Amino acid sequence: MPQPHLRTVVVLAAGEGKRMKSTLPKVLHPLLGRTLLGHVLNAAAPLAADRTVVVVGHGADQVRAHLTDVAPDATPVLQAEQLGTGHAVRIALEAVPDGAGTVVVINGDVPLLRPETVGALVTAHEQAGAAATVLAAEVPDPTGLGRIVRDADGHLEQIVEERDADATQRAIREINAGIYVFDAVRLRDALGKLSTDNDQGEEYLTDVFGLLRSTGEPVAVHVADDHVETLGCNDRVELATLRRLLRDRVNEAWMRTGVSLLDPATTWIDVTVALDRDAVVDQNTQLRGSTVVGAGALIGPDVTLVDTIVGPAASVVRSHAVGAEVGAGASVGPYAYLRPAARLADKAKVGTFVEVKNSEIGAGSKVPHLTYVGDATIGEQSNIGAASVFVNYDGVNKHRTVIGSHARTGADNMFVAPVEVGDGAYTAAGSVIVEDVPAGAMGVARARQRNIEGWVVKRRAGTAAAQAAERAGTVQGAPNGAGAASDSEAMHGPGETVGGPSGTGDTATE
Ligand code: UD1
Ligand code: MG
Repeated sequence: MPQPHLRTVVVLAAGEGKRMKSTLPKVLHPLLGRTLLGHVLNAAAPLAADRTVVVVGHGADQVRAHLTDVAPDATPVLQAEQLGTGHAVRIALEAVPDGAGTVVVINGDVPLLRPETVGALVTAHEQAGAAATVLAAEVPDPTGLGRIVRDADGHLEQIVEERDADATQRAIREINAGIYVFDAVRLRDALGKLSTDNDQGEEYLTDVFGLLRSTGEPVAVHVADDHVETLGCNDRVELATLRRLLRDRVNEAWMRTGVSLLDPATTWIDVTVALDRDAVVDQNTQLRGSTVVGAGALIGPDVTLVDTIVGPAASVVRSHAVGAEVGAGASVGPYAYLRPAARLADKAKVGTFVEVKNSEIGAGSKVPHLTYVGDATIGEQSNIGAASVFVNYDGVNKHRTVIGSHARTGADNMFVAPVEVGDGAYTAAGSVIVEDVPAGAMGVARARQRNIEGWVVKRRAGTAAAQAAERAGTVQGAPNGAGAASDSEAMHGPGETVGGPSGTGDTATE
């Protein structure tokens, strides 16, 4: 019975990554929007493998949980003891049913590998009809890596680990990138013959090449165009280097699609982010997660956007946003904080020192200064006065505030939710709004002011203020009788509530 030609991807991710000195398994360290493992799986994705096996070991539960998120179709296979890369592949293949075909093996710690390069490797392998093909690269510094040893005709003879290499072999700068393609049947056969006769006493996957070659099987080397793609990650210094390299690659790609990056060296864009044409990203800006930036939008300087959607021609300056939506032509910042489910409609404005959470701000509405908007719905073309607080939390539950369209709320208002301010309504400055304000009404909720004439000259005699008051000539003798008041009354007196709209002196700010 003919066996199906299956394509299997095996990712090796059981190692601890000792030199990372981390409680997080090495392959789960993040790098511009994906984990190291996520990058590798992404590079293999276009192969459309029939099955993907991920060998897990150190931090197996964490790695399995991550796979459920990012690659639910992949099969984790446990390598309880890390007895070498050959042992890991053997265990992986024991877990999948037999079958002819191709096996692609990728070390879990080569995150800069591009899908195109994996594709070219597989094509080269198939075209050569090889039993095994290794991806190699010429590197400036081969320290710690396996060397590609070729014979006089340039054919691959064997791959030698640095610790097992002699001086001549160590001088070779062509290295094994840790990415391979094998004929499944011949790989299974060779894996059964691996020895542990090496410096680490491990089963080396790389020995498969020498074994196949010694039995006359064709083995091949495919050299990567850009050695940077083959860089592994063994410690945090290398991780930082990889991050910079990936940043440069991502930034260059966006600039080539018509996005302006004013300072690419301080612009960090996750591989999962999308930007539209003529977006301009100013310096010191981080765009993360599922962030999308619309055409012609201006982002930065000094902006962090996480999972945030910014519409066309919007602007976000010196601000932080997480899980927010900014409509077309809307404006945010400088110094704004948009928290999850902050939704700004088209041409809305959230200005300086304003925090917004779980709130809709309608088209053209403005929250310009020093304000907290939490759990609110604001209609269209309304203006919220400076220094206002949407008082959403009673200590146990959160409540909503609703502000209508074309409303004008005064500066320094508290909206004690649940409360509503109707369409076209106004509120007076300094009001604590605890009751609904009907459409078109003026809501006033504050003490009436009274002035105690001559108080300073009497109570603060001899001070510069008193002298200034005397110079101003407003004092008609010392206060007495009806005009007199104690200090405490003057500072904290109950005052009166303004009965009508006249003289409320509402000072809405725009
Ligand atoms: C390996 C190669 C080396 C190559 C280098 C490229 C071998 C013997 N050597 O060396 O030729 O130049 O990669 O980066 O293969 N792993 C397991 N189980 C194990 C051992 C390792 O899953 O028992 C995984 C690790 O998690 C890692 C990958 O295999 O993702 C490579 O292992 P590592 O220990 O980093 O091998 P290197 O010494 O770097
Ligand atoms: Mg390694």
